[in-house]
Amino acid sequence: MNRIFSGVQPTGNLHLGNYLGAIRNWVDLQDDYDCIFCIVDLHALTLPQDPEELRTHTREVTAAYLASGIDPEKCIIFNQSSVPGHSELAWLFACITPLGWLNRMTQFKEKAGKHRENAGLGLYAYPVLMAADILLYKATHVPVGEDQKQHLELSRDIAGAFNRQFETEYFPLPEPQILGEAARVMSLRDGSNKMSKSDPSDYSRINMTDDADTIALKVRRARTDPEPLPETVEGLEGRPEAANLIGIYASLSRTSRAEVLATFGGKMFSEFKDALATLAVETLGPIGGEMQRLLAEPGHVDGVLHRGSERAGEIARHHLSEIHRIVGLLRP
Ligand code: TYM
Repeated sequence: MNRIFSGVQPTGNLHLGNYLGAIRNWVDLQDDYDCIFCIVDLHALTLPQDPEELRTHTREVTAAYLASGIDPEKCIIFNQSSVPGHSELAWLFACITPLGWLNRMTQFKEKAGKHRENAGLGLYAYPVLMAADILLYKATHVPVGEDQKQHLELSRDIAGAFNRQFETEYFPLPEPQILGEAARVMSLRDGSNKMSKSDPSDYSRINMTDDADTIALKVRRARTDPEPLPETVEGLEGRPEAANLIGIYASLSRTSRAEVLATFGGKMFSEFKDALATLAVETLGPIGGEMQRLLAEPGHVDGVLHRGSERAGEIARHHLSEIHRIVGLLRP
């Protein structure tokens, strides 16, 4: 069976983009693949985190997976730092990854900002750790939002470099799965920026834990243009806010943008926004409620992580002993 690996950083403010671009697709895929879903706490540490909040957010992401419908009986759910093999394989990959490949990574440039000299080595090596996450389990498929495409190309390159250097076919070249009409959900305040956990404006995103009134208010306040909605997908060209809201509606209703425009083309945003708010509340409301319920019993959430890390750790140890042999590390 093909294996899936994917993850979310526990950095707070889980939002509609994380849900539609990633988590909901995982729920759909869990019956057809052997699935491993991680809470990537080591990746979160590439930027400063408050220790107590990091623990809270780790449980929150776990609760989001469970509340969205990921079944811990079918899938492995665990936090990255509980399996030490991730850091170890990241080191082995760091030793075969040319700096030139990392220098091309746009996310590093964005996150490091103007003061690149002050950025941490961990932030620079972020995609190497990501390659280690995926390849430690020899995952073949990686369902992610579009923003992770470049990182996944690097994972394939690293797998290829390892295989070539050691004259083996040990690692599969993992395939990105970028699925659906909401692979890149944009900010509700600015259709040219990605919806993001770190946007200072809470009105830029719909959080998975927002209540019905907040969701409706954020949709109503979302930026739009003064024209009525177009009749065709081509008519969305040059109208990023309209394109974003139509994409969100299509994804939430599991239809296409063309079908949404067949219903709402020619109508004003106010009418469309009412329908979008209702749909968003219908989808996210129950998930947010279930997250709150799960977070009130952290023992259950921690139990899921504990069992997941045992199962993940077993696979990781087995693969690492093979990897040690391939690269020539002695295990006396
Ligand atoms: P993170 O936490 O930034 O994002 C988690 C997932 O959500 C997707 N996503 C979006 N999708 C659509 N629209 C958006 N606005 C949006 N924002 C985020 C991301 O593409 C991602 O799928 N580096 C990864 C975490 C990671 C990982 C891995 C993923 C670490 N190791 C190994 C896959 C395999 C990340 O972006 O997390």
